[in-house]
Amino acid sequence: MTEVPIQWLKNHHAFENPKSKLAAELFPPGLPQQIRRIHSEIPGYRMSPLKSLPRLAKRIGVGGIWVKDESARLSLNSFKVLGGAYAIYQKLLQRGGFSDKEMSLRDLLHLEGGRREKLGHPTFATATDGNHGTGVAWAASKMGFPSVIYVHSLTTQDRIRGIERQGGRVVVVDGNYDDAVRQASLDAQKNGWEVISDTSWEGYEDVPKWIMQGYATMFVEAQEQFAAQGIQRPTHLLVQAGVGSLAAAAIGFYSVLFEDNVPLSMVVEPTEAACLYESMRIGDGKPHSITGELDTIMAGLACGDPNPLAWETLYNCADFFAKCPDYVAAKGMRVYSVPLAEDQFIVSGESGAVTLGALMYMMEYEGARELREAMGLNQESQVLLINSEGNTSPDEFRSVVWEGSLPVPEDFKIHVKEDED
Ligand SMILES: Cc1ncc(COP(=O)(O)O)c(C=O)c1O
Repeated sequence: MTEVPIQWLKNHHAFENPKSKLAAELFPPGLPQQIRRIHSEIPGYRMSPLKSLPRLAKRIGVGGIWVKDESARLSLNSFKVLGGAYAIYQKLLQRGGFSDKEMSLRDLLHLEGGRREKLGHPTFATATDGNHGTGVAWAASKMGFPSVIYVHSLTTQDRIRGIERQGGRVVVVDGNYDDAVRQASLDAQKNGWEVISDTSWEGYEDVPKWIMQGYATMFVEAQEQFAAQGIQRPTHLLVQAGVGSLAAAAIGFYSVLFEDNVPLSMVVEPTEAACLYESMRIGDGKPHSITGELDTIMAGLACGDPNPLAWETLYNCADFFAKCPDYVAAKGMRVYSVPLAEDQFIVSGESGAVTLGALMYMMEYEGARELREAMGLNQESQVLLINSEGNTSPDEFRSVVWEGSLPVPEDFKIHVKEDED
């Protein structure tokens, strides 16, 4: 049987309980702005655009669709570098015993002599399903250090080449993303490398926290961009998740910023790799892993082990959890790339586009009526989405957008409405 486009759960815990202490710890007042200032020292830094799709919004019945478009962030096609670069910077401050006043990120790019010697000769290592490793390799090499990046055996050649182009040495591991995480950590221990992982485990929390904090730059920028449009805040956030760090950063940031009037939020995962959804379904408040091949086109979201820190934030702050099959992401990619007249064109990869597909089904698919009512989505809603990647895997991108692979199943086609387009 064809899978329905969206399955969902309401997080009663988040509705009924005080917001997370962890979110407040992650984003104390002033820190997100400071992190954004640090990022702005990176050569080539520019605010990523906040794009608007007013015609599509009107067509599906919401007030606005706003897309934080990370498809060209620092020419790396994904938001991920924000986390990796900030975490490496923090790690180097720690190694050298410097404060951020004593060594800015800009200083680090040109550091020589005794001050560089104080940092030692670290090699940075991480596992990745593509984008995080590319960001870590890029940031490490900009700061003058080598990196070793672990990928799993289903990683596409495009993604591997992307990492190598940024100076990373790639190690391919049998198994899935979670196996790559374990192998990277074992090898790092043996070789004395610094692990820059976007997921946490017992005794390893500083780096993943820095990574989540690093993502805050996107939302500081978005708030400035909303203000310029006369919008105080988005009313709804839909965020895609792999291990959950991005979602925890987005939802945590907004729940701290608008304490009494928090945007309603939803975490969206691929059906084949929905570890946060599954943790919510089990409902004991703990993170739960799923195993197997995690076979989805949404490579960036193909993770079976939730980041425990992210889970804690999401369990306390995220209002809904949803999972969607691959054809929903494919539909999102096509809609972004062929917009309605007046709407802005967006290049969006598999993991970037799933939230747009999910939003469209939420509004247009009869079977999602209860969900859109529970989310309070209507013509007043200003919905924020994150296009978390551009065309990061050109073969797959063309297969979906040009060749039409993963078409919408007959049962879930939305009948064309009368429209002037
Ligand atoms: C493009 C893209 N979007 C979203 C995510 C999800 O981030 P997280 O694993 O923090 O949930 C990733 C992770 O690699 C990604 O590459």
